[in-house]
Amino acid sequence: MHQIFPPDAAAPDIGPVVGDREATEPAVAALAGLYAYPDTSERGAPWVRANMIASADGAATINGRSGQLSGPADRLVFTVLRSLADVILVGAGTARAEKYRPVQEHEIWKELREGRAPTPPIAVVTRKLDLDLDGPLVAGGARGARTIVLTTEAAQADRRAAAAARAGVVVAGKDSVQPGAAIGALAARGYQNILVEGGPALLRQITDAGLLDELCLTFSPVLEGGTAGRILAAPEAAGPGRGRTGAAAWHGSATRLTLAHVLEDRGSLLCRYLRAAG
Ligand SMILES: NC(=O)c1ccc[n+]([C@@H]2O[C@H](COP(=O)([O-])OP(=O)(O)OC[C@H]3O[C@@H](n4cnc5c(N)ncnc54)[C@H](OP(=O)(O)O)[C@@H]3O)[C@@H](O)[C@H]2O)c1
Repeated sequence: MHQIFPPDAAAPDIGPVVGDREATEPAVAALAGLYAYPDTSERGAPWVRANMIASADGAATINGRSGQLSGPADRLVFTVLRSLADVILVGAGTARAEKYRPVQEHEIWKELREGRAPTPPIAVVTRKLDLDLDGPLVAGGARGARTIVLTTEAAQADRRAAAAARAGVVVAGKDSVQPGAAIGALAARGYQNILVEGGPALLRQITDAGLLDELCLTFSPVLEGGTAGRILAAPEAAGPGRGRTGAAAWHGSATRLTLAHVLEDRGSLLCRYLRAAG
């Protein structure tokens, strides 16, 4: 894997991304530097980073999941970003589709977690609490990394109580979890470095709320060519106009980004964007 933007002649080759853990350690150290969270002590708000993947034609899934889009470099960056995070925030749709469970120590890099719990907890956002409350995701969080369930007043009281017996439960909205309340609840628990792993519905709301600071996006060298959605879910109410493609035009505001770096490995482009100032 190597850095292709910014075109810095002094940028060291990041190193091999396959092989045993020992062979990968130099790449992990280089990636940890490239993806270090900024110091948030002065700004009084956590840093919200999302990590997503898309095909070259913009699809967020192939056959309903993201796994077929991924490759060795994306998988390595995924583990480094998890290792750097204080908490991983995910929508229940993704947790169900991708069969989420608590992060395991062997899946991440312990040298990047000095002074913190061995693994970051998963925080899952759900309106209905339509999750297996006895399954590993809700009930299986390790000590210091118990799963956090961010839900609503609309969730059935008995399911909320059952979830609270197995995980941390935060009610962060009436009918819908408010993104600001969710992020605020995580910050109140001391989690400043937040990693959002999607999915598209949750990421859209976080972006619309102006809370996204950074997007790590891998472009995979593959064309999906089907009906898969994009990394941000379509707005519920698009504008009345229709473009040349026949799709309803969207008149909402776009979120401007600046490109911080691009890494390349076997045709995959690993981009890091920051929200543009203003
Ligand atoms: N390409 C990528 O990088 C990437 C990343 C992640 C996921 N994905 C793919 O995306 C698909 C899932 O997409 P998705 O948009 O359905 O997933 P999502 O955003 O993970 O989940 C949507 C669900 O999350 C809960 N939710 C979201 N916002 C909420 C809010 N404000 N208040 C309360 N609950 C809220 C609801 O759960 P309840 O129904 O439980 O109420 C909702 O049904 C999967 O196919 C997955 O593989 C792709």
